Amino acid sequence: MVAEVLAALKPAPNGLYFDGTIGGGGHAAAILAASAPTGRLLGSDRDGAAVEAASARLAEFAGRWEIQRRPFSEAAAWIAAESLDGALLDLGVSSPQLDQAERGFSFQADGPLDMRMDQRQGLTAAELVASLPAEELARLFWELGGERESRRLAKAIEAERTRRPLTTTGQLAALVARVLPRHGQRTHPATRIFQALRMAVNDELGQLDQGLAGVWSCIKPGGRMAVITFHSGEDRVVKNFGRRLAQPYECPGEVDVPALRVPRAPELRLVTRKPMAPGEAEMTANVRARSAQLRVFERLPRE
Ligand SMILES: C[S@@+](CC[C@H](N)C(=O)[O-])C[C@H]1O[C@@H](n2cnc3c(N)ncnc32)[C@H](O)[C@@H]1O
Repeated sequence: MVAEVLAALKPAPNGLYFDGTIGGGGHAAAILAASAPTGRLLGSDRDGAAVEAASARLAEFAGRWEIQRRPFSEAAAWIAAESLDGALLDLGVSSPQLDQAERGFSFQADGPLDMRMDQRQGLTAAELVASLPAEELARLFWELGGERESRRLAKAIEAERTRRPLTTTGQLAALVARVLPRHGQRTHPATRIFQALRMAVNDELGQLDQGLAGVWSCIKPGGRMAVITFHSGEDRVVKNFGRRLAQPYECPGEVDVPALRVPRAPELRLVTRKPMAPGEAEMTANVRARSAQLRVFERLPRE
């Protein structure tokens, strides 16, 4: 969604931008090109291979960018408050992560059951599958994958792992296909299970929660934050974040009780009331793009 991101962030010379999920550097290169000759970009990714790939890709813009290997949830620790003209979070996994069997993200190629975006981190998907009690596994498959047969699958995993450890993507995909055969469906039965495990291994919802608040605190008045999500659970978190800060009041606690509302000036304007989807051409060219949704927020000046 490069064109949509550029339209949202309107990169300009002298601007300072942040790409928290720099990946292969595609969006970052477009932002640097559009803000030439003096726009600058700060980037982060927790995957060392992505940092290397993006650094190579951005060589032509040398002197105008800095990339750090760290999670975007740490943005506020190294970027000054209210200093950014624009920020992008393009969530989820990258194509290189999915395509390399040894990273263990894909059920389509056999590899170690790993799924760590940051390979310096300890916990792998294999360790999670080996150690979580069946009820925990079921909760994870249901809450992060929306899998209705989560309990049946978790019990089957529990039984299987007493016989032999589940250490490869191929073993897990075959087990899921055996326990949850889905005849006539377009998606592989393991799709949701792999998504759920990946989100748990990388604490993706926790990162999103902390990251939205942290990155937002670095946006200057008039600056914008664009977020691309790939499934409804993530989009809900982003939507609620925007709604809360767009309201002309604060509410203590989780529930919005009108009697308890405390008036205050809204911090944010919803640039996109509804999430934007990629154009037809991108959807045809890129299967992953089909579920992408973009939301854009603008920081309002203080009254
Ligand atoms: C969809 S790709 C981004 C692609 C990128 N926009 C481009 O143009 O090439 C997502 C990237 O975000 C990274 N990532 C995911 N969660 C992260 C987090 N919490 N902190 C930093 N990077 C993260 C992944 O490692 C992956 O490289």
